[in-house]
Amino acid sequence: MTDSRIALITGGSRGIGAAAARGAAAGGYAVAVNYRERADAARAVVEAIEAAGGTAIAVQGDVADEAGVKRMFSAVTERLGPVTALVNSAGVGGNASSVADFKHATLARLFAVNVIGTMLCCREAVRAMLKHGAGGAIVNVSSMAATIGGRAGASDYAASKAAVDAFTVGFAKEVAAQGVRVNAVRPGMTLTDMTDELRSDPERMAEITATIPMQRIATAEEVAGPIVWLLSDAAAFVSGACLDVSGGGFVVGQPLHDVAQT
Ligand SMILES: NC(=O)c1ccc[n+]([C@@H]2O[C@H](COP(=O)([O-])OP(=O)(O)OC[C@H]3O[C@@H](n4cnc5c(N)ncnc54)[C@H](OP(=O)(O)O)[C@@H]3O)[C@@H](O)[C@H]2O)c1
Repeated sequence: MTDSRIALITGGSRGIGAAAARGAAAGGYAVAVNYRERADAARAVVEAIEAAGGTAIAVQGDVADEAGVKRMFSAVTERLGPVTALVNSAGVGGNASSVADFKHATLARLFAVNVIGTMLCCREAVRAMLKHGAGGAIVNVSSMAATIGGRAGASDYAASKAAVDAFTVGFAKEVAAQGVRVNAVRPGMTLTDMTDELRSDPERMAEITATIPMQRIATAEEVAGPIVWLLSDAAAFVSGACLDVSGGGFVVGQPLHDVAQT
């Protein structure tokens, strides 16, 4: 089967990636839903897309494994056709650790998934896009953590996302003239499995929401909307951008609604 609009969503089985997969399908893409180990979750996303009249397949692959990434792109090309859109949502959280307690192995895995995984998927996607000459669009899922060095204990995660931002800007310049657009979204804290543990601590959550101008965290759909927009022709002149999807950034000092109006 071939389709002219084919999107691969890494980490498409859950959270932001799953919402982006559903959104891309609603926008007319045939969607490949990547997962690492939760085949059941990927299947559920595929079934939801098919039930809504869309086309989707599930495709296994660890983005940190170069051979796995190549196999994943080959499987998508064989079953749907060459990718014209890529969303790099696969990612892992930090290790909630002070720098004094950093472990090489956990740092290496974090960067292998969040940074090298994103780069390898971009490499395979741009090879396919340039080979077929029809251009394409890529969205890398970064994080607001990159802009502030992360919350306490998250400097490793923040650094991995800052690398994604810098890579996005550089890569976008490299391929802009060839019709490939590359952007990033920087979500603030979002309601997904990744934040389950944090969300189970009401005190910590109150501290966090107090730092968000909108005073709440995002839903996965609220992050997926801008991702799907960046993939679309409506964003035809947008490349090299890092779009904050953060409910207004971070409150610095007193929240505005507490300031007496004069
Ligand atoms: N949630 C937030 O507050 C937040 C805020 C800012 C940025 N982000 C970023 O947004 C992205 C998505 O996060 P999320 O909250 O949606 O996470 P999530 O709910 O934990 O889902 C993570 C997804 O990534 C996949 N994945 C993890 N490691 C992988 C690997 N090595 N290879 C392939 N797939 C892998 C998982 O697959 P399986 O289902 O098979 O495990 C799952 O589909 C991440 O890059 C994250 O850093 C999240």
